Amino acid sequence: MIEAKNIHKYYSDLHVLKGVDLSIKQGEIISIVGASGAGKTTLLQILGTLDKASDNANYQLKINNNLVNKLNDKALAKFRNENIGFIFQFHQLLPEFTALENVCLPAFIKGTNKESAEKRAKELLDFLGLSERYNHKPNALSGGEQQRVAVARALINNPALIFADEPSGNLDSESAENLHNLFFKLRDEFGQTFVIVTHNSELADMADRKLTMVDGKII
Ligand SMILES: Nc1ncnc2c1ncn2[C@@H]1O[C@H](COP(=O)(O)OP(=O)(O)O)[C@@H](O)[C@H]1O
Ligand SMILES: [Mg+2]
Repeated sequence: MIEAKNIHKYYSDLHVLKGVDLSIKQGEIISIVGASGAGKTTLLQILGTLDKASDNANYQLKINNNLVNKLNDKALAKFRNENIGFIFQFHQLLPEFTALENVCLPAFIKGTNKESAEKRAKELLDFLGLSERYNHKPNALSGGEQQRVAVARALINNPALIFADEPSGNLDSESAENLHNLFFKLRDEFGQTFVIVTHNSELADMADRKLTMVDGKII
């Protein structure tokens, strides 16, 4: 699913990623742990094609058999929209839109018609226990509900790959546990691949594989 070779990232003189190699199989749930500042978010943003690695001769990023480091920006945006879902610590829902509208947005960007997008969005919201919340705006939802809406938004285009950056960092322990169980349920039902950066040691240990980052490298 993901084959990454020799990822380096510099922010001017700061060498943040120092040659990361990574191989992740379809359907795996990988956790990434490490101290604050180790480079976890930077790595996730590069793997998720939201950011670019610094130039390096042997650098390669292959996702689903696509050499994404060779795609131009337009092709990359399309690839990302169709293949990758993101879940962030702060849900980043748009406050002026309802739960249903927030979930539909990536589908609209993809060009899915309103009827099909809403049908799929409602299936996902139902699956996530949010049937009674379609028309609520984010500020009328609890933290756990907001995060589940964000999960539905990440899933609407059926991405093969989901990146989550401290997805439960902002949740109470019960909501966090529910969210973590949800990731495994989704993997079992839909075969999705998850890469999850987390400080939550229970979640990290539940993963198929736990990777530890220290100072810009996976050890
Ligand atoms: N846009 C940026 N510009 C400059 N430095 C950055 C930027 N983003 C992150 N950094 C630096 O890169 C290092 C790694 O950051 P980050 O990947 O966010 O770590 P983590 O997610 O493991 O806490 C930190 O020293 C951080 O200050
Ligand atoms: Mg981070």
